[in-house]
Amino acid sequence: MPQRYSLAAITLHWAIAALLAFQIAVGWALEGLGAHGFHLYQWHKSVGMLILALTIARIAIRYWKPRPAKLEGGWQGALASAVHVGLYAFMLGAPLTGWALVSTAKVKVPTLLFGLLPLPHLPLPAAVHALAENGHGLIAWLGIALFLLHVAGALRHHVMMGDGLIWRMVPGRSPILLVALPALILLGFVAGRAILPAPQAPAAPAPVATEVDNETEAANVAEAVNAAAPVDNAATNATQAAVAEEEPVGPPPAWTVQPGGRIGFSVGNDGDTISGSFSKWTAQIAMDPEHPASAMIKVTIDMASASVGDAYKDGMLPGDEFFGSAAHPTATFTASGAEATGPNSYRARGTLTLKGVSKPQTIRFTLSGKDAARTVTGSATVARSAFGVGNGDSSTGLTPQVAVTFSFTAKRKD
Ligand code: HEM
Ligand code: HEM
Repeated sequence: MPQRYSLAAITLHWAIAALLAFQIAVGWALEGLGAHGFHLYQWHKSVGMLILALTIARIAIRYWKPRPAKLEGGWQGALASAVHVGLYAFMLGAPLTGWALVSTAKVKVPTLLFGLLPLPHLPLPAAVHALAENGHGLIAWLGIALFLLHVAGALRHHVMMGDGLIWRMVPGRSPILLVALPALILLGFVAGRAILPAPQAPAAPAPVATEVDNETEAANVAEAVNAAAPVDNAATNATQAAVAEEEPVGPPPAWTVQPGGRIGFSVGNDGDTISGSFSKWTAQIAMDPEHPASAMIKVTIDMASASVGDAYKDGMLPGDEFFGSAAHPTATFTASGAEATGPNSYRARGTLTLKGVSKPQTIRFTLSGKDAARTVTGSATVARSAFGVGNGDSSTGLTPQVAVTFSFTAKRKD
């Protein structure tokens, strides 16, 4: 009989324990997050399925690698074994109920494990949903109770009986490991809390919170623009030649989008209109309003941040029928070069990448304000079917064109 568990069993014991703590920390926050928590749902589901796989491996190893002999008989030994069985049931039951609950939800949101592996939905009747959902929340509490009993047992052996049982789950007689391994559980929980978004401000009638692009990203664009900008010679196309003749034009200045902007969309639905907005997007803009030909525009929209102000419809937006946000979390519009269409009015012909499809897309916008602060207002008409948006039964009443509007202010970086 070995003195301790195999290294594989020990590794899995602590890894699974830490991952479970992460799961509970994230799980408790999920319901309050709504559509904004889409990525966290994906994380929770991915880590949960990883726990399921590790637990299956662990149970296999349990039968395959020899374990130390039971230390204690009597009711204490029986209780310890019962708690172990309970803990295995928790490790299997939590992911299985989770998987069952997402498989039977009314709105079937696709899952892409760790952004790579699609998770199929289990073929279960819808009636299972309530049971799975309640069971999933309850089982976590059961797991916590068993965990406390388990730790109490380990401490009893360590402190009161001093029989060294705890070393059976530590790969060497190192006091550092004895502290570090249980600390992993705490770390798992803290990591789970840390990745939650900061609490949201109470919802305003039309909540929009613009994420301002970060300095480095903007700096990168400015650099790219420097490299691409037509300078004073070798202008090869007509526009550039025209610009070059007027005066030597430097690279266009970069702009920082200020918080409070909005990207909205609306689409007709059986004579009605559904309107919504994206609360998370960033824009990198380099443009000289006097010389729009050298403009560089890149807008990145977090598709999971779409909301039409109706929880049910919001739940459908990330699904495959609409944005397929699991596989395609962002949409981007990029354009290099814009043209003036009137005083302060412009048109940019660029590329929209939405749901993995890239197509030419034109946007129009006007600028107001002057010098270093401008307000940008514009619109675009997006042919949704070309991108596979709204390709199912719930979309038959939707008009083929989606009107996108945007407005924000931008400050020039000096
Ligand atoms: C493996 C260990 C897992 C643990 C310990 C765990 C734990 C939790 C906890 C504590 C909650 C909050 C429940 C509540 O407050 O009612 C939760 C919610 C949730 N979990 Fe898990 N989970 C695990 C795995 C999974 C898996 C594998 C999936 C899906 C594939 C999943 C999907 C969900 C969903 C969708 C919610 C939100 C529930 C709702 O909307 O009612 N979980 N989880
Ligand atoms: C500070 C936290 C923890 C400590 C100190 C600890 C300690 C131990 C020790 C010493 C053993 C060996 C018992 C023996 O040889 O009789 C053990 C076994 C076990 N632990 Fe933990 N553990 C902790 C957390 C957890 C957690 C969070 C889980 C799962 C949710 C877990 C699941 C198990 C299971 C299932 C066994 C039985 C292994 C087997 O024989 O198949 N432990 N634990």
